[in-house]
Amino acid sequence: MRHLAILGSTGSIGTSTLDVVLAHPERLSVAALAAGRNRELLKAQCEVFRPRCVSVGSKADADWLRSNLPYRPDLHWGDEGLLACALHPEVDTVLAAIVGSAGLASTEAALRAGRRVCVANKESLVVGGALMHEAARAGGGQLLPVDSEHAALHQLLDGRAPATIREVRITASGGPFRDWPLDRIRRATIAEALNHPTWKMGPKITIDSATLMNKGLEVIEASVLFGLSADQVAVTVHPQSQVHAMVGFRDGTYQLQVCANDMKLPIQYCLLYPDQQPGPVAPYSWDQARAWTFEAPDLERFPCLELAFEALRTGGTAPALLNAANEVAVAAFLQGRLPFWDIQACNRDTLARIPAGPLGSLEQVLDADRAARRHAEGWVRTRARSFGCP
Ligand SMILES: NC(=O)c1ccc[n+]([C@@H]2O[C@H](COP(=O)([O-])OP(=O)(O)OC[C@H]3O[C@@H](n4cnc5c(N)ncnc54)[C@H](OP(=O)(O)O)[C@@H]3O)[C@@H](O)[C@H]2O)c1
Repeated sequence: MRHLAILGSTGSIGTSTLDVVLAHPERLSVAALAAGRNRELLKAQCEVFRPRCVSVGSKADADWLRSNLPYRPDLHWGDEGLLACALHPEVDTVLAAIVGSAGLASTEAALRAGRRVCVANKESLVVGGALMHEAARAGGGQLLPVDSEHAALHQLLDGRAPATIREVRITASGGPFRDWPLDRIRRATIAEALNHPTWKMGPKITIDSATLMNKGLEVIEASVLFGLSADQVAVTVHPQSQVHAMVGFRDGTYQLQVCANDMKLPIQYCLLYPDQQPGPVAPYSWDQARAWTFEAPDLERFPCLELAFEALRTGGTAPALLNAANEVAVAAFLQGRLPFWDIQACNRDTLARIPAGPLGSLEQVLDADRAARRHAEGWVRTRARSFGCP
């Protein structure tokens, strides 16, 4: 039996994880739940799963839960609450599914405390990947990737050394603007960018999918997770999202991983690893006619992907700088303060102006994150004023 802490239980990945738990009552139980602002959904989840440890974004919401829950869990809030859930003595497995670099400290602490950490929160790997490996080594923790492409690569690579393969390829759906000409992409609205063709996800990752920044973050994540150089990671656009990743061997052959585009599959893969069991998703059907297509990404229309390769090649804190700028720019776009095309411009300017340093400690990463945020926020303010926004 695995005893889970689900960090980000009210989000898209969090709720899918609870569906996986319900499908495996004899193997999975919930010991801790942490969320941000959605106290009503968190309360409903607590009533079903009765976790011992619960955390929410603010003290006011923790007090509200204390008054409204029909039992008395250990109640926490804020960043301390995330740590309390991840490190609760009953917990042996952490599902890290909050958004952005806010997930860094809890992921690191859980690995250092010897937990299995199933990481959906790709930003924490992008920002501090080497530190996560170091924490896992020091504490005996185990890092498993929930991102569908990386779970697929984990399955395909099966522990192979990076030097024994030629390349890995992760696929991209291409997002809602795959076929759009550049001048239409420049003017894309929030509603258009949130309208993802194949995946239903939280707003931040959905915008990242529209800019292909999500694929860029995943390129860095693949390099970090599997010890691959920038030249060993490539992206292929595959609009049907059925092939999730490929491994290319030295003799020119490839192995592909195929499954339905449902996040419950990679979540279950990580939670039950190395066991593979029937779960809440039906096996892939080969009886219906299907057409799969593959194409190269267009870096002129989707420059964020190129910026990610640039940051990966620069190394050190460059991925952390890019990630922080992108978090600021996406939030501003979602608030209507920045046009869609300016997300890449903000990211590019931050990477160009804030020098990357070495990635030696969590403090260095957090300093880089803060410096990039400050710069990007200033950049956004100047641009927003030019459009008459506050
Ligand atoms: N969705 C997918 O299919 C998918 C696929 C692969 C990877 N991922 C990655 O998984 C992560 C989660 O994505 P998502 O789509 O599930 O996002 P989401 O639907 O927006 O959910 C985010 C969750 O994190 C919580 N949260 C956010 N900031 C927090 C904070 N500071 N403290 C505590 N809780 C906080 C939110 O709580 P409230 O809602 O209660 O405020 C919510 O439960 C992201 O890193 C994303 O890139 C997602």
